[in-house]
Amino acid sequence: MTTAIGAFCSPGRETGHQRRQTIVMKFAAKIVGTGSAFPERRMTNDDVARKLTKFGLETNDEWIRERTGISERRISDVENEPELNSSLGARAAQKALEMAGRKPEDIDQIIFATCSPDTPLPSTACWLQQKIGAHRAWGMDINAACSGFIYGVVTAEQFILSGHSKTVLVIGAEVLSHFINWQDRTTSILFGDGAGAAVVEQVAAGSRQRILASYLSSDGTLSKLLFVPAGGSALEVTPERYAQNLHKIRMSGREIFKVAVRTLTECALRSLEQAHIPAVKLDWFVPHQANLRIIEAVANRIGISMDKVIVNLDRYGNTSAATIPTALDEAIRDGRIREGQTVLTDAFGSGLTAGAMVFRR
Ligand code: ACO
Repeated sequence: MTTAIGAFCSPGRETGHQRRQTIVMKFAAKIVGTGSAFPERRMTNDDVARKLTKFGLETNDEWIRERTGISERRISDVENEPELNSSLGARAAQKALEMAGRKPEDIDQIIFATCSPDTPLPSTACWLQQKIGAHRAWGMDINAACSGFIYGVVTAEQFILSGHSKTVLVIGAEVLSHFINWQDRTTSILFGDGAGAAVVEQVAAGSRQRILASYLSSDGTLSKLLFVPAGGSALEVTPERYAQNLHKIRMSGREIFKVAVRTLTECALRSLEQAHIPAVKLDWFVPHQANLRIIEAVANRIGISMDKVIVNLDRYGNTSAATIPTALDEAIRDGRIREGQTVLTDAFGSGLTAGAMVFRR
């Protein structure tokens, strides 16, 4: 069966890369399994406050909960035996494969979305491939920061639609604790470590349960609102730069807050429009988990009530590329998101990247 779809359009964008085209498709892509994993070590807001005191900085549980919605996060224990990004990803992947009823050797392709890779070379996808024994697959990393999982699933979808791949493993995982500047109280309270995974598989184009629409964007003019200045090829880490914490996250929180609300709302509305689904018909909204106030503002603007919004940042903080797949997995496993229901996901991150996707489970 074939279906004519308006694929990946950007209505209203004159020079955009996502022009509407009518393409006859034989295939569609469906999320058939999810999984998630977190490091053992819990760090509460009180623990963070105690750590900041060592650098002469003040914060407290009440401030962090009221301004962000975060109560605790998981941290890969960097000082002792850190759990690697690829190991967290492998644990999440194994659960996703189990839910999908697939084996590692069934995977054609691995897409690992992360901005905190195990190593600059090789990709974390290759470290993970070795860990899970996905011998038939080929793999690559993509870095779209917090939007990485949506970018990853949409990329997987393209390989599936073209007939190149049938089964793609998409991971969104981070060990961001490695990049936290504990001498900056506006960023150190936000981030945590974790991994989420999804098995995305080819189905017939006419399938009801599939990815329905997506919209991706980025605005490189805003790159410096959230970045790690040193450690790449632009700026080597020297002892002086290390002392200045230039290899850690720098963020303009207030500015990002405003851009995030605007961009998340725009991406969500555009992808809903493409899917021809009004917000009131959505069963669930799984937004990027950066700040509860951002989530509430966006849900309000889109017209989705908070009882349809999946939130896990109270327990895990902002795990960047891992927030959406871990929240999704939690809600699928506890029975909130059921088969046949329609879900909107929506993310923004350093870049500034952004993306939304509508799918029917
Ligand atoms: N504890 C106590 N007080 C604090 C803290 C803290 N941890 N941090 C800041 N403050 C103080 C400030 O110094 C300021 O004091 P002043 O009024 O005396 O100057 C006051 O609190 C208010 O500061 P704001 O920066 O205006 O606080 P805001 O309400 O904006 O909250 C926050 C800050 C939480 C960082 C918020 O701006 C935010 O969440 N922004 C979005 C960040 C984000 O989402 N980043 C992730 C991007 S995704 C990715 O790709 C990784």
